[in-house]
This record gives sequence, C-alpha cells and structure tokens, in this order.
Amino acid sequence: MNRNKGENIVNLFENKEKKRRVIDIHCHILPGIDDGSDSWETSMEMMRIAWADGITDMIATPHFKAGHHNASPSKVRELAAELQTRINAEGIDINIYTGNEIMYFSEAADMLDAGDILTMCDGNYVLVEFLPGDNFMRISSGIDDLRYMGFEPILAHVERYECMLRDIKNVQELARRDINMQVNAASLTGALGGKVKKSVIKMVDEGYIDFIGTDAHDTGKRSPRMSKCIKMLNRRYVSEDVKDMLYLNALDIIEDYK
Ligand SMILES: [Fe+2]
Repeated sequence: MNRNKGENIVNLFENKEKKRRVIDIHCHILPGIDDGSDSWETSMEMMRIAWADGITDMIATPHFKAGHHNASPSKVRELAAELQTRINAEGIDINIYTGNEIMYFSEAADMLDAGDILTMCDGNYVLVEFLPGDNFMRISSGIDDLRYMGFEPILAHVERYECMLRDIKNVQELARRDINMQVNAASLTGALGGKVKKSVIKMVDEGYIDFIGTDAHDTGKRSPRMSKCIKMLNRRYVSEDVKDMLYLNALDIIEDYK
C-alpha cells in the first residue's frame, strides 16, 4: 500500500465531498452466482442492512474458483448494474462496483490478463484467497506470481489461514513486502472466537492490515455490517489509521472505476 498516494487522495476527497465513506471491498452481494446471496430479495435485504449500518460503497466480489461454474465477467457486471438500479429506486445511496474473490490457481494471472476474471474495479488490484490450511510458502508464492504479472494482490481475510494465526511473523513478513491485507469486520469483534479476535487485533495493532471488509454472504450471521467494528476501531486506534482501513486505502481501488 502506497501511503503517500493515500495522503494525496485524502486531500482530494476531503475537498470534494467532505463526507466520510465506509467502503466494503469484499462481499458476496450479487444473487445466485456463488454461495452468497441466493435471490434478489436477499440481495436487497443485504443492501438495506448495509445502508442502515453506514456502508457507502461496496465492491461485489463473487467467488472465482478453478473448475467451478463461475459467473462470467459480463454476468457479474450485468447483475451489479441491475442491483444498482434496484437500490437507486429504493433510495439506497450505495455505490456498487465489481470484482472477484479468486481462489488462487496458477492460471489466474493469465485469465485476469485475458479479462476472464475481474480485477477490483477494473484496475490493478485483485482480491485473492487461499485454502485455510495452505502453508505460508504457497500463499507467499501465489501472491508473488500475481505481482510478477503486474497485479496488486490483496490477501483476503488474513485471519482465516492457519499459518498466519499460528505465527504472526508470517503476517509481518507479508507486510514487510508491502503485501495488501484484508481482515473481516466480524473477526475483529469476535465472530470467529476470542482467540482469532486477539490475533486480528494484534495484526491491526502492528499496522499490518490495509483493508476491512464484511465478506457478507447473507442477511444473518454473515450480513454486511461494519458499525460494531468501526466503534471498536475508533476506541482503540488513532483516527488516521481507522480512516486508512475504512476508506482511504479503498479509494485507491475505486478511484479509476468507470
Ligand atoms: Fe469472501
């Protein structure tokens, strides 16, 4: 993450809009294309929850997994545009953007290059995940592969990987190499248990985390809520750091979105 770039954006942003935004860079809000929302009704209810909870921008990131029946980029765009129309009609003022959450596989970079998988907001950032039990070498080399091909990977939900929870030095190593990392809002407030919460807080304390997302899948336990997490962050951290994680770093992703 380029902090200097973020500082420039802060000025631009504050001059332009004078309003804080809460940008959810990771959610499964589009209906019927992955294990997230199962219908338009669910997607709309999730949007109502997000709006009531203070979210202003969402990057829809349906799963993309090798060997699965994945929605095509054009389908993702079509659903995102329809969701935008539907929420506009209801007065929900959230901007929807497109992306994918890619389960890393060796052909991912080529497919991204060919436009068969979506980058975040059609820019250089890509949201990438691994299996919870994958070892550090696999995660590290997968990220390097995407970087080598010219992408800017964001490691999704760092707290879900056993190797990161077992040894925070692995997270430190990724941060040292300026790898972008995202954690789930609910993990910070204890949804995955006290032990995970403690580890995630430690990661944030050390300044390793760049983004917070909801990773929302439904209207229940995995709904798009950030406010509880934001309250906790505001109590614990200086406001500059909280702003970075909630929207300034994410503005870097969405600023070029057409
Ligand atoms: Fe996800």
